[in-house]
Formats: sequence, structure tokens, C-alpha cells
Amino acid sequence: MGKEVLVTGGLGFIGAETTLALMKEGYDPVIVDSLVNSKIRNLGALESLSGRKIPFYQGDVRDESLMERIFQKHAFEAVLHFAALKAVGESVGKPVLYYENNLGCTLSVLREMERHGVSRILFSSSATVYGDSEDLPFREDSPVREATNPYGETKVMNERMLRDYVIAHPETEVVSLRYFNPVGADPSGLLGEDPNGIPNNLFPIINQVALGLRPGIAIYGDDYETEDGTCIRDYLHVVDLAEGHVAALSHSKGPGFHVFNLGTGRGTSVLSVIRAYEKATGRKIPYTIAGRRPGDIAMSYADPSRAEEELGWKARLSLEDAARDAYRFATKVLKEEK
Ligand code: NAD
Ligand code: UFG
Repeated sequence: MGKEVLVTGGLGFIGAETTLALMKEGYDPVIVDSLVNSKIRNLGALESLSGRKIPFYQGDVRDESLMERIFQKHAFEAVLHFAALKAVGESVGKPVLYYENNLGCTLSVLREMERHGVSRILFSSSATVYGDSEDLPFREDSPVREATNPYGETKVMNERMLRDYVIAHPETEVVSLRYFNPVGADPSGLLGEDPNGIPNNLFPIINQVALGLRPGIAIYGDDYETEDGTCIRDYLHVVDLAEGHVAALSHSKGPGFHVFNLGTGRGTSVLSVIRAYEKATGRKIPYTIAGRRPGDIAMSYADPSRAEEELGWKARLSLEDAARDAYRFATKVLKEEK
């Protein structure tokens, strides 16, 4: 008897790495992805890395007839729900698109779970739900605040929808995983972060500088109240993050709504990230200091102890590992593409 799980958004950055980790642990992932922010070559990479064929459905998670077909064909023991749009800046200009997509996908998944009696779901939430608080590190019982942008608000609202679902379906186990800053790439260099369009996040931009596609990076502010004035984040290797999902799946918490931070517990400044990247790759990353980016908070890092105690999961890879792997992906895949 196989262990089929549905992975929505499974060709994206985190979904693809998690699919690989799931296969290593004996799960049988089935992927649905519209490719709105990912490339079909990730399926080939997953199949060649795992040596297995993966059932893949190209389409929109909000497409009821597609989802109905998928749930009829497979007997899922759980859903890992990654599919969402995630560009914070874009969400400010396109709130309708973001609310429609990010709430619509979750509603569609829940409707099918309800119809087909699937009672476990892992949801991709974000540290953004803690908002701009100075009470650090963020713990799972820290207050959830109104977000400063529609993307962040979709995470707050999704968590609310999932809580309400559990009230109506008390046999359901919902695990909301609040990721801090996922970075790095698969150590093979075949899977990594490759957003369609111009990247907004720190690592993909540094990668472009390392490849010579940009002259340098602008650091958004060096006047924060931090050790060197640049913002502090909790950067987590995507391989660790993928393993966090497998840990959550294999350590069932039973019915209810459960929340776990997935982070390292370490805060690193933007300047320290650049230094670590230079050290790990031998590439020079020129930078300039620009003004603050609207909406950025000075510091964000996790208290990851609940995940360690209850899931037996702990991040084990370093920022240098992440830099080395991200650069390998950049030279193997991104460079070929440009
Ligand atoms: P990604 O964009 O690489 O992956 C998301 C995938 O979902 C993409 O392959 C995209 O094509 C797909 N998708 C989006 N809307 C869809 C739809 N309507 N139907 C079918 N497929 C659809 O992003 P990621 O970094 O892998 O993020 C995965 C999840 O983790 C998202 O929910 C994101 O909000 C969340 N998250 C990401 C970060 C981060 O910094 N990367 C941080 C916290 C939370
Ligand atoms: N940064 C720069 N220059 C750049 C890009 C980023 O200095 O060109 C800085 C940012 O100011 C920030 C840090 O690098 O201090 C990290 O920025 P990212 O955009 O990579 O990540 P954020 O922490 O801003 O955003 C992440 C996720 C979002 C999520 C948010 C809050 O990407 O999905 O955390 O949890 F909403």
C-alpha cells in the first residue's frame, strides 16, 4: 500500500525540494501546479534525482473539475499545500489577484478534502503573520497581527480559514508551518529558486550578481537598530525546510490546528549574508546602500524549539551551505537559461 500525498505547487522552490524529501522517506507524491511561477524542467530534475516517475497534473488548484479528477484517482493520506503567489510588492498593486489565488486555492483544497474524507493538511504559512513586533524571537504563541500587505494578509486569513475548518471537522489535523527565510538550493544544483520575472528576494538577487547579470546589490537601509544597521532575518536552508515537512508528516499531532515555526533560531544581517556568500563561493558581491524598503521590519527570527521538541526537527545546515548550493544552482541552471 503506497503512501500517496498531494503536493500543490510542487514544482515551485520549496514544493519541489519537499517532494524530493518525501520520496526519500517512502511517500508517493502527486503534484498539481499551474507553472505560474515555476518551470516544467523541475519535474525532469525531480524524476532524474529520484529515479522515479511522479504523477503530475498541470493546472490551477482552483479548477474544481481538475481537482475532483485528481482526488478521485488517488487515495491521499495528506495534502501539502504550497500553491500560492508570493511576491510581497506585487501583492500591493494586485490585491484582487492575490486574495483570489491564495484564498481560492486553499478553499478548493478544503472542498476536495471534505468531499473525499482526507483529514490531514500541511499549510505553507510564514513568519509574516507575526507582523512588526519587537518581542523576539517569534514564538508560536506570539500574537498574530494584521499584515502590512495583501500577501501577508492572505497567510493570516488562510490560517483563520483552516482554524474554522477544524472546528467544523474535528477529525482533521491541520499543521500550519510558519517558515522564516528559505534560501539555498538542492545540493545537486538541479533544483532551486528561479522565480518568473525580476526577483525581489535577497538570495536570487545575490545569485544574479554572482553570475554577472547585475553589477551589484542595493542594501535596503543601514540605519536599523541592529549590530551593523542592516536588517536581521532567520535564513533557513531549503533542504532543512523540506525535512521539516517530512517530520511534520511523520509525527502526527492528532486532530486539531497545530502551528510550528520552521527557522534556525539565528538572526543574520544582510551584510553578514553577503560576506557568507562571498566566503562560500569566492565571488565578489559589490553592494551599495540604498534607502529602506517600505514594509521591511528590522528583525525577524524564530524560536524553533517547539518543532524540535514535538517533531524532532532541527535545522542543521549553515548559511555557507546555502550560499554554496544556491551558487551551484545558479551556475548549473540559471546561467544556461539566460
Ligand atoms: P514558488 O512560487 O516557487 O512556488 C509556488 C508554486 O505554486 C509555483 O510552482 C506556482 O506555479 C504554483 N502556483 C501558484 N498558484 C497556483 C495555482 N492557482 N494553481 C496551481 N499552482 C499554483 O514559491 P515557494 O517559495 O516555493 O513558496 C511555497 C509556499 O511557501 C507559498 O505558499 C509561499 O507563500 C510560502 N512561503 C514562502 C516563503 C519564501 O520566502 N519563499 C516564505 C514563507 C512562506
Ligand atoms: N534586501 C536587500 N536588498 C535586496 C533584497 C533584499 O537589502 O535587493 C534585504 C531586505 O531589506 C531584507 C532582507 O534582505 O532585510 C531579506 O529580504 P527578502 O526579500 O529576501 O525577505 P523578506 O524577509 O523581506 O521577506 C520574506 C519572504 C516573504 C515574507 C516575509 C515576511 O520572502 O514571503 O519574509 O515573513 F512575507
